Amino acid sequence: MVREFQSVIGKETRRQAMEKWGGKPDVLLACVGSGSNALGIFHEFIGDEDVRLIVVEAAGFGLDSGKHAATLARGEVGVYHGAMSYLLQDDEGQIIGPHSIGVGLEYPGVSPELSFS
Ligand SMILES: Cc1ncc(COP(=O)(O)O)c(C=O)c1O
Repeated sequence: MVREFQSVIGKETRRQAMEKWGGKPDVLLACVGSGSNALGIFHEFIGDEDVRLIVVEAAGFGLDSGKHAATLARGEVGVYHGAMSYLLQDDEGQIIGPHSIGVGLEYPGVSPELSFS
């Protein structure tokens, strides 16, 4: 649902890219917390194999520090808020608090659609 609402970003990006430089972007880069802004811009371009879609996650004190917010890079599959995705969780499935100096990036899960990709 969030992806659907945010997809206006991708539609507008395509429109402006065509208008300003007459073609699609080569690369789309998004900073991922929950992944909604990433899917918002990516959704419009998922079928375009010539557009590279790149996400960046917060590494915090490092991916091996246990203090980061890199759910795609270091998470494991689980269910949170009723959705299966990658999660920062311990061996018993309890959520591990993510860490980033970017408050909006501190989410222990990530979009199911990004997890599936
Ligand atoms: C600047 C910035 N980038 C990325 C994000 C993460 O957004 P999302 O949760 O849509 O992945 C946020 C969230 O607040 C943000 O403020």
